[in-house]
Amino acid sequence: MVEAASSQTTWHLVAHHKEIPEGMCLQLGVAGHSILLCKVKDQIYCIEDRCSHRDIPLNRGWLEGHEMVCPLHGATFDIRNGHPCRLPAKQAISAYDIRIDEQQRVFVALPKT
Ligand code: FES
Repeated sequence: MVEAASSQTTWHLVAHHKEIPEGMCLQLGVAGHSILLCKVKDQIYCIEDRCSHRDIPLNRGWLEGHEMVCPLHGATFDIRNGHPCRLPAKQAISAYDIRIDEQQRVFVALPKT
């Protein structure tokens, strides 16, 4: 689910738009969260770096369109909202709001820890 920035979240500067290659994901650790910044068709998305099937990192997986593929059993997650698209994963992962300023800096709203 996409979590809106609120009193429960904080915006973090995480990257510059051009640092994220098209069709790829950048793995980052930010404020205690392990996240993936993904770029598809020049749009940036952010999901947590965790497969909900067995709690392993997704960062060794790959993108197929807007779906992130888990490298272990092949579950996929929609990077736009974290919803599982292919079994064996049945639970969504977190997807986080993105904001890009006029200098093309990328900010992510992450839950406060
Ligand atoms: S650990 Fe990701 S699909 Fe099984």
